[in-house]
Parts: sequence; C-alpha cells; structure tokens
Amino acid sequence: MHAEVILSPGEFSRYELAGKTAIVIDVFRFTTTVLAALEAGIERFFPVPDIDQAWAMKTSHPDYFLAGERQALKIPGFDFGNSPLEHDGRSYQGGNLVCSTTNGTRAIHAARGAQEVVLASIRSAQAVAEYAARQGRDLVFFPAGLEGRFSLEDTWCAGLILSYCKGIDFGDGAKTALVLYETMRLEELKDSKHGQRLQALGLNDDLEFCLKPKTSTGVVIWDQETGWGHLES
Ligand code: MLT
Repeated sequence: MHAEVILSPGEFSRYELAGKTAIVIDVFRFTTTVLAALEAGIERFFPVPDIDQAWAMKTSHPDYFLAGERQALKIPGFDFGNSPLEHDGRSYQGGNLVCSTTNGTRAIHAARGAQEVVLASIRSAQAVAEYAARQGRDLVFFPAGLEGRFSLEDTWCAGLILSYCKGIDFGDGAKTALVLYETMRLEELKDSKHGQRLQALGLNDDLEFCLKPKTSTGVVIWDQETGWGHLES
C-alpha cells in the first residue's frame, strides 16, 4: 500500500485517484460535525458546495434538514449551523441532512473519482486507519484546508491516521504530515488560523469537542454515485 497527503487544496486536481481510497478531513469542523450528526441519529447526509443547491433540495423535500456555515456562522434560515454540539440527538429522530460549508463539502466533491471516499476526524482517526487497512487500497488524503490554503489541523490529523498505518509506503506529503503530528502537540492546533477564528467567535467548546482522539469508532462513507453519505455499520 502507498499513502499520500495533498498538502494544499489548490493541488487536489493534480492527483490520480482511480482505485484508491480518498480520506477527506475537516477537523474544524465539518467532518467532525457530520460524524456527530450520524451518531446522534441522522440517517444520511448530502454535501453540496452551494447554498442554492441546499435550498433547492429543501424545496423538493421539505422534511430534509439544512445545515451549514459561511465564515463559520450559521447560514440564515438553515436548521443547523456547523457545530458538532448542535447534534445532541434531541432535535430529531433520524432524518436526512443536506450540508453546505466553505471547505469540507468542497473537499468531498474534489475526491470524486476515487474508488471510495471516507470522511475522517481526530475523534475517529484510529477507526478510519483500521478501516483503510482492511480495504487494502492505496490512500490519498484530502485535508480540506481553509479557503483554498493549507490547514494545520487537517494535515496534523492525516499524520495521526498515518501513525496507525504500519508497513505502508509514504509519499512526501504523507511524510510531512507525519512529522507535523510527531512534533506538534494536539493542544497547539487551537492556535491554527481557523482555530483562532473559532475562538474569536466564542466557539471554544466546539474546538474541545473536535480535539478528542479515540472518542469515536465511526467510519463515515460518502457514495459519489448517489451523493449521500452514511455511517459504516
Ligand atoms: C468548513 O467546512 O468550511 C468548516 O467546517 C468551517 C467551519 O465550520 O468552521
């Protein structure tokens, strides 16, 4: 097996994906939030890059929930923003979630063409590493980044997942992610560019929730044919 980490969203289209497992990471907060929503009872989610697409789905399916953010703030009129803490399982029993965010939903669509698309977070890193090892395919990591630029927390999370992967051949991006994970403490991720933005918005509890390794065994799969994602059972 071979693993590579794409260090900048601007390079997403430069990598061969056929036959590989793509691992999409948006620690702050999209992939962490989707996992929390699915664990709280949401049946499936549909990521859309554009807000208009979300409203169009709501128009044809009024029972669908809408979730999303711009500038880390809830999109006006949506049922949920993009905080994992909103998904406590009290506000719904099951249901379909249509999501639109700045970085995470775009990174998922950039992984189209891979054999399988998996979503990962720091909470589920070990479970995702074990799942990927069982699948036995080459891996390409898509750290979602921040508005098209490198993201510290997403690349660190890729390094965390790779730290569980034994006997795999690493590309330069993967070696870089592993060194970042081995040399930077988890706590320091709060001071990343996006971490600072969330702190400035008073979303420290979200950061705490996102920065808890080994708190979920959930593996989230996105089906690029149907456009829907679910929790692997
Ligand atoms: C994103 O997908 O852009 C992020 O999750 C943004 C956020 O929620 O802060």
